[in-house]
Amino acid sequence: MTAPMTAPTRALRGRVLTFIGDPATEGDKACRYLEDGLVLIGGGKILDVGDARDLLPRLTSQVLVEGYPGDLILPGFIDAHIHFPQTQVIASYGAQLMDWLERYALVEEQRFADPEHAAEVAAFFLDELARNGTTTAAVYGTVHAQAAEAFFQESQRRNTRMIAGKVLMDRNAPDALTDTAQSGYDDSKALIAKWHGTGRQLYAVTPRFAITSTEAQLEAAGALLKEHPDCYLQTHLSENRREIETVHELFPWAESYTQVYERFGLLGPRSLFGHCIHLSSGERRLLSDSGSVAVFCPTSNLFIGSGLFDLAEAHDPAHPLRAAIATDVGGGTSYSMLRTLGEGYKVLQLQDQNLPALMGFYWLTLGNARALGLDDRIGSLEPGREADIVVLDARATPAMAHRAARIETLAEELFLLMTLGDDRAVRATYIAGEKVAAHG
Ligand code: GUN
Ligand code: ZN
Repeated sequence: MTAPMTAPTRALRGRVLTFIGDPATEGDKACRYLEDGLVLIGGGKILDVGDARDLLPRLTSQVLVEGYPGDLILPGFIDAHIHFPQTQVIASYGAQLMDWLERYALVEEQRFADPEHAAEVAAFFLDELARNGTTTAAVYGTVHAQAAEAFFQESQRRNTRMIAGKVLMDRNAPDALTDTAQSGYDDSKALIAKWHGTGRQLYAVTPRFAITSTEAQLEAAGALLKEHPDCYLQTHLSENRREIETVHELFPWAESYTQVYERFGLLGPRSLFGHCIHLSSGERRLLSDSGSVAVFCPTSNLFIGSGLFDLAEAHDPAHPLRAAIATDVGGGTSYSMLRTLGEGYKVLQLQDQNLPALMGFYWLTLGNARALGLDDRIGSLEPGREADIVVLDARATPAMAHRAARIETLAEELFLLMTLGDDRAVRATYIAGEKVAAHG
């Protein structure tokens, strides 16, 4: 006897675009595009994807068919680095990293001792991600276990696939924001036991960066990863010159910033390092050999004045890096992964490098899913994948519609979306098959 097939309950009709490979290496073969496509959804999963002409006649009248004529249907966007407690310090004026942290971020984060505040902000944050077409993110909390708890509760209620963690920080921070090596370990362990793998929630061990953790705490973070090898590690690395100097003062035995993390067992294929701007070739080799992920955060790097992420270096065959792309709100200035791509393009232009649109949209979907090791679940529109989907309208604003009149190819349309698009271009967002945001 074969297992009963899940029946489709919903079908999305429009121009379907998904990736099956990396356009940088596989060219046009990397993407699958259907001019009049249908995505069949049931039980929170994608059941089938094909030409509407072929699939429509097979549907019963029970299936809700939502038509998006002219719009693009893609996998939901993935943001590989973002801070949910920084939604009210985004757009804070006039400071580079260390001052920005002291003046804004580390003041604001103290409010998250109050779990009610944390729950309210988590709800706002998850609404905002959905409005921008982002369906999965790697999320920093604050030092407070109760804030991480509030975030997971809210994400679980919405059935979003989120990676998140309580920040570990036991020095060089306001007293109200410090834990200890032991309490940070204990709180993380309890959160992992409760949330990692519960529904769609995943846990990331989250030492903020080397400056705010003692060696004892970094060691505890390494122990957590050893005990829970399927959890993630997320932290910041080599974002700002003053930050790097401070790391050298605090860890005089280390040859490099990256070596600090290596010493404590924090490198590896599930480790996400935000920024990675000012790396030496030795550091690139450590990250490359360990399969670690470098996370490019263009709007943040420009806004905080940190520097230019070098994608060509990341692709250097001598030490190739797995790379993801992210907003880094609130150092970053937009929740939109479209804006993030647009600013990423400019960061690369300043270095005489490029970001073709197909590569950009691959990065936001399957590329980031691969970087997070989640490509068997999200990041593409294929039978069996979780039905996290975004619908985009390249004519969403008068200026976009005006420009779109001259467009002849899909690549041009995607480039228009990443250059002029933002939340207004998001017609609808679906999470596990449910429509959670729509406009237009
Ligand atoms: N380095 C350590 N903490 C932070 C943070 O909150 N934002 C950014 N951009 N960099 C950091
Ligand atoms: Zn960050």
